[in-house]
Amino acid sequence: MGYIGRREAAPLIVEGLKRLEYRGYDSFGVATKNKGITLAKHQGRISENAGSVSRLKGKIGIGHTRWATHGAPSDENAHPHADCSGKIALVHNGIIENYSGLRLQLLERGHTFRSETDTEVIVHLIEEEYAKKKDLLVAVQEVIPRIKGSFAILVIAEDEDLIIAARNASPLVIGIGDGENFIASDMTPMLEYTERAIFLEDGDIVSLTQDAVEILNNGQKVTRPVELIDWSVEDVKKGGFAHYMLKEIYEQPQAFYNTIRAINQGSLPRFARHPDSITVVACGSSFHAGLIFKYLVEGTCKIPTRLEYASEFRYYPPPVNGLVIGITQSGETADTLTALRQAKAHNCRTLAITNVLGSTVTRIADATLFMRAGPEISVAATKSFISQLAVLMQVISNLCGGKEEGILLQAHKSIEEVLLMDLTDSVQFCKEAQSIFYVGRGPFFAVSLEGALKMKEISYIHAEGYAAGELKHGPFALLSEKTPVIALCMPGETYGVMMSNIKEMKARGAPVIAIGCIGDTELSDIADHFIALPRTDLFIQVLTTLVVLQLLAYRTADALGRDIDKPRNLAKSVTVE
Ligand code: G6P
Repeated sequence: MGYIGRREAAPLIVEGLKRLEYRGYDSFGVATKNKGITLAKHQGRISENAGSVSRLKGKIGIGHTRWATHGAPSDENAHPHADCSGKIALVHNGIIENYSGLRLQLLERGHTFRSETDTEVIVHLIEEEYAKKKDLLVAVQEVIPRIKGSFAILVIAEDEDLIIAARNASPLVIGIGDGENFIASDMTPMLEYTERAIFLEDGDIVSLTQDAVEILNNGQKVTRPVELIDWSVEDVKKGGFAHYMLKEIYEQPQAFYNTIRAINQGSLPRFARHPDSITVVACGSSFHAGLIFKYLVEGTCKIPTRLEYASEFRYYPPPVNGLVIGITQSGETADTLTALRQAKAHNCRTLAITNVLGSTVTRIADATLFMRAGPEISVAATKSFISQLAVLMQVISNLCGGKEEGILLQAHKSIEEVLLMDLTDSVQFCKEAQSIFYVGRGPFFAVSLEGALKMKEISYIHAEGYAAGELKHGPFALLSEKTPVIALCMPGETYGVMMSNIKEMKARGAPVIAIGCIGDTELSDIADHFIALPRTDLFIQVLTTLVVLQLLAYRTADALGRDIDKPRNLAKSVTVE
């Protein structure tokens, strides 16, 4: 994040970085320009070390919160990085692929490196050009063509009253204020100050002063539209909840409803209305949303649908002339962006589903459908996931009639009912577990994958989602009284065989927490614990089961005292492949 204006930059940037911590939180730092450049940076969370950083003086500053790639988390490897003279400072998001060759050359030319990062080469290259040209903008323009990889960089120098920024494949947004300007990886740190945003494009180099924004691309001045952001600052505050994750779980009824309302029969672009086949690419939770979609679209619309992890897409023969849907709540996941670029290169038409206006995926895809989840801060996806499902259900409605809109518009009421459930007994079981299996069939197999992901990422208990029929092909060997199985057993075509599977698991000593419908005494009798959900439409049961599993993971992680919003080693927006 960068700031230039009339306020003290450091405390404002520190507060802003807290909002960006979901991108990485192993170390952080700020550099300001006052008389000279001053810099403070620390390993660890912002909350632990903010004092010395906030006290830096100056009305121009840049800051960074890190998710280590090159070089372990440490004070030295934290950004900003300075040149040899200490007169130029830089922060960088992304990866410089050709850094090792550049580093050797710079060492030979006498530069001193203070970190193990790929980033530091950029500031030394700028130092050399700045010595020749005495103009920071020109120096950055000279250096950019020599670095390969993904980057969003911000640079300040002792002798210049401006911030220079450049982007390639990593997001950057300018916030336009009155007599002050902001720049950051996303809008969330600026929502208090402005709603006017400019989303930068790849190749843009920006000179940002207190009153002016100048954007160059390929050496030419360009103008980019100013967009109004309708996220409010309240959306990014905890609002009395213990964690963002809990707040976001509770925001799901509204997020689902808003998204259903925002997408209608005409929303699907013309090119996507009659596909012969569909390919879905996504990562993490978004992949699980894709799997639920695959079950439902193939079942309802009879359109063959292939689903790939975005990171694996390139290793399969590409679809020819098909429709490719990329699901990514952040719009910035590197693997998903790459997969969509590859699909385009093979003449596929591409549709993105994302939560973030102006995100990179919106520039790559032929068309975008936006969810209306509002900003999601907690690393674990919850309301963005439910909102992806809302978009995907509306896609199915567009493709083949699908579900009646009336049912979808009522779904939020069922989600609300589930939010009030007491899960104390089940939490007790889970928090003692060494390992937990989640099993289901059909769309509930996808739900089991997502439930297990939620549990492992925030509680650190090993959890696996399995197709219920697969457990006997290996994982049975792991079943014991310390390995509970969470069985998703809803009325419908999978019910009978799920009941048999549950009996098999119990016979091998595993306690079973069954999730089924209210009034199912047969299921409640065989289960060790029974979680009863409202008896509704199948898709709504998918939603309510998901919400129960999110709550179960949350309550278990909370009982274990975990760092729920920022689980160890994870980041929300993974901008490296
Ligand atoms: C990270 C997040 C996950 C998310 C995945 C894909 O791993 O921690 O919650 O599901 O990225 O993110 P995307 O923004 O592409 O949906």
